[in-house]
Amino acid sequence: MSSMADPNLLVGASTSDDAAVYRLNDQIAIVQTVDYFTPVVDDPYTFGQITAANALSDIYAMGARPLLALNIIGFPVKLLSLDVLAEILKGGADKVKEAGAIVAGGHSIEDQEPKYGLAVTGVVHPDRVITNAGARPGDALILTKPLGTGIINTAVKGKLADGAACRAAINVMTALNDRAARVMSGLGAGACTDITGFGLLGHLYETLAASGVGGRVFLKEVPVLDQVRPLASMGIVPGGAYRNLEYLKEWLRWDKGIDDVDRLILADPQTSGGLLIAVSGGKADETVRALREEGVAGARIGEIIESDLPLIHVEE
Ligand code: CO
Ligand code: CO
Ligand code: CO
Repeated sequence: MSSMADPNLLVGASTSDDAAVYRLNDQIAIVQTVDYFTPVVDDPYTFGQITAANALSDIYAMGARPLLALNIIGFPVKLLSLDVLAEILKGGADKVKEAGAIVAGGHSIEDQEPKYGLAVTGVVHPDRVITNAGARPGDALILTKPLGTGIINTAVKGKLADGAACRAAINVMTALNDRAARVMSGLGAGACTDITGFGLLGHLYETLAASGVGGRVFLKEVPVLDQVRPLASMGIVPGGAYRNLEYLKEWLRWDKGIDDVDRLILADPQTSGGLLIAVSGGKADETVRALREEGVAGARIGEIIESDLPLIHVEE
């Protein structure tokens, strides 16, 4: 159904946005999203935290504030102790609480493997919704978390990552995007999305397509977690990174010197990744400074350019 069907549906399915937005009145719109997945880490409490941070992230990516969350649970009750489930839910509830929101219920079914996620409802002023569609030529692109969690998670599964790499990835995946969202809303960002399964390049592509513009990415400015390059050089790369590059290939323009390892890192599927924010070029330095003051590792990684096609030029 198109958004034409109801003028109060401010953001629907047409722009690959992070969440749906529905205007209740002139002051308030509700923002709704749902996300769930199978465990990405062994520790159930940490898995719960990561899943909740990831689900909340879609609310933050719209410039909104989360209010309520409902758990979605699949669990193999005959195979695993209910203590495991309790730990997952505690991780989720603690993260939702950190976000200033409440877990208000949920639904569980018996399943072959654990699955956990949340449906989250937030609110935003209808005039302050930040979608994928508002990027304009001259905007700077700011990324708020380093890349590489997909590659590290793949290494962890193969017992090839050390403790430091593992901890770094968990720190990134459990971090809320709340402060990044506050900064971008305060500075009037034009567009935003969070980086998840399609990787930096895939989510940037969605923003460019929705906004009717092109983009440049400065490879050297893109923050990447330690150990990701050496792991990727050893071929430890999730299948999703290859699929993302394949899917995007007609839109990507690479400087000649950029090798396959860097291409895969830019397409690495992220779990609970950072926000990718488009803010007017004149406010870029102020945005990065404000993010750092909030303890967020914001980096200016590219810019929006005029283009009839959503092309991404990746430069050395
Ligand atoms: Co999203
Ligand atoms: Co999502
Ligand atoms: Co958005």
